Amino acid sequence: MHHFFISLHALTLIFKISAAVPIGICYGRVANNLPPPSAAVNLITTNGISSIRLFNPDAQSLQSFSGTGIQLTIGVPNEQLPSIAAGTATSAQNWLQSNIFIHISADQIRYLVVGNEVFLKDPYYEPYVIPAIFNLHQALQSLNLTEKIKISSSQAASILSNSYPPSSSSFAPNIRPDLIRLLQFLRDSSSPLMVNVYPYFSYINNQQFVSLDSALFRSGSLLTDLDLVYDNLFDQTVDAFIYAMDREGYGEIPVVVTETGWPTAGGEAASGENALVYNENVVRRGLKNVGTPKRAGVGVEVFLFDLFDENEKNGSEFEKYFGIFGVNGVKAYDLNFH
Ligand SMILES: *[C@@H]1O[C@H](CO)[C@@H](O)[C@H](O)[C@H]1NC(C)=O
Ligand SMILES: *[C@@H]1O[C@H](CO)[C@@H](O)[C@H](O)[C@H]1NC(C)=O
Repeated sequence: MHHFFISLHALTLIFKISAAVPIGICYGRVANNLPPPSAAVNLITTNGISSIRLFNPDAQSLQSFSGTGIQLTIGVPNEQLPSIAAGTATSAQNWLQSNIFIHISADQIRYLVVGNEVFLKDPYYEPYVIPAIFNLHQALQSLNLTEKIKISSSQAASILSNSYPPSSSSFAPNIRPDLIRLLQFLRDSSSPLMVNVYPYFSYINNQQFVSLDSALFRSGSLLTDLDLVYDNLFDQTVDAFIYAMDREGYGEIPVVVTETGWPTAGGEAASGENALVYNENVVRRGLKNVGTPKRAGVGVEVFLFDLFDENEKNGSEFEKYFGIFGVNGVKAYDLNFH
């Protein structure tokens, strides 16, 4: 009996070491009805979620996560980029101290996301992304934290031109110079390209060409591209980014999906059933290190979007309904994270 438990424990350890990429969740807070961060932290801990993305370094949230062992990915908001870019490594270090490290230990921080969907979508901030990254990176160097905390910037799939089929993909010409500077930084600092991937958007924007089954991992063989076979849109999008990097000579840089998800209401094909099918597939494939056709066997680290519905989100109605949990802490659908 005793032996049985020991070997089960050993098996679990082996499984954890060899198998899973971290499955994270975005904790968006554009809402006026959310439970307090301490309640969110309880929910996250109870469900065994070990990795969270915060879109900004909210003091109360950081304090609530402090000491929980949960790994945090923290956004440096677009609006902060001009001042960080205009400053020095010392002022960037002061920014990190007073906005982040005063609230939480560096041990709990996995990534800094310097700007979210700036390139092409929020172009005013584009000139500030790379200089801000350099200052923050130098600040981390002074603190001997560049091995522990990796810096990148999240990109929308719209920065790709000709992304179908994936092998024809390239970066949009007008953002290419800055993007190449970003890729060079990512290579030099062993950091991942961060991308936001929403097959839901591809589906609703191109219903005459894109099937719901391809978005929900229910197609058979969908597309043969060079010698690779695709059966879903998620893989196609991730590989389109890898091919675009390849084209510039940066094809080895790892990819982290910093947002992906499916809404439960507010639009065509938005439902709890579909959200469950989509997210279950993303989680399973991460846990089993399935990878994508271009990087088979290399699990894709993901952050599911979103912990809660966000009732103050602007834009399309469905933007408000990505929550995996209700604000009462009950799962909107029965997603299993393990
Ligand atoms: C810097 O950090 C690494 C771990 O990331 C550690 O091994 C090393 O001892 C540190 N160096 C100094 C000078 O503190
Ligand atoms: C949404 O739009 C309103 C009115 O235009 C604006 O005041 C608010 O800041 C916007 N919220 C977000 C999150 O962009």
